[in-house]
Amino acid sequence: MISDKKTLEKVYTARNSEQLMDAYKDWAVHYENDTLGEFGYVAPKATAKTLHTFAAEADQRILDAGCGTGLVGQALRELGYAAIDALDYSKEMLDQAAGKNIYAKHIQADLRQPLEIPNDTYDAVVCTGTFTYGHVDARAFDELIRITKPQGVIVFTIRDGAYQELGYRKRMIDLELAEAWELLTFHDEDYLRAENVICKMCAYRVLSPDRARQEA
Ligand SMILES: C[S@@+](CC[C@H](N)C(=O)[O-])C[C@H]1O[C@@H](n2cnc3c(N)ncnc32)[C@H](O)[C@@H]1O
Repeated sequence: MISDKKTLEKVYTARNSEQLMDAYKDWAVHYENDTLGEFGYVAPKATAKTLHTFAAEADQRILDAGCGTGLVGQALRELGYAAIDALDYSKEMLDQAAGKNIYAKHIQADLRQPLEIPNDTYDAVVCTGTFTYGHVDARAFDELIRITKPQGVIVFTIRDGAYQELGYRKRMIDLELAEAWELLTFHDEDYLRAENVICKMCAYRVLSPDRARQEA
């Protein structure tokens, strides 16, 4: 079943975290029908493919940050990755992801706050669909760098429009200049294909998590 308009409107017009989580609570069970079925959401597979280009080792430890119902985790599993943890702020989305039995750990946490994850924990972090309007802003980059090992890879999408408007670009470049990470790829990809929405597909190699900490 596709969601009613009211549910989707709540996601798109949420003005704070509480409203957004409330919207995802209602959306969780219909999320995949809507995004995959209606909107032509192709970013999860594209993200997994991008990670595979730069970090193909199957045994690496990966965090799927803003995992939602687990679409990126599924795409990663299809490419042979097996050690994947899931993180999301929405309990209901995380419950959907847990139902798939594809993640080693399920972490409920807010990407806009310091994470209770030790430094240098992951070989790779992916974050798809979460850098967008009303969701998570550029300050989260610092935490993603902190929890990624030096030489680890971070792959994320930023919805077109939000990229230009919400300050992501400035923080990405500041962190490049600080040599906290180096750019591997930055290109346009289809995002919601049926809606003609594209995203920036970004991949970075972490150089020095300490530099991100000093910069913050
Ligand atoms: C559009 S969905 C993308 C989910 C999944 N990555 C995918 O591609 O299908 C965005 C996800 O970000 C999560 N999210 C939004 N704000 C968050 C925050 N502050 N911290 C952690 N997760 C957040 C939402 O709960 C939702 O599951």
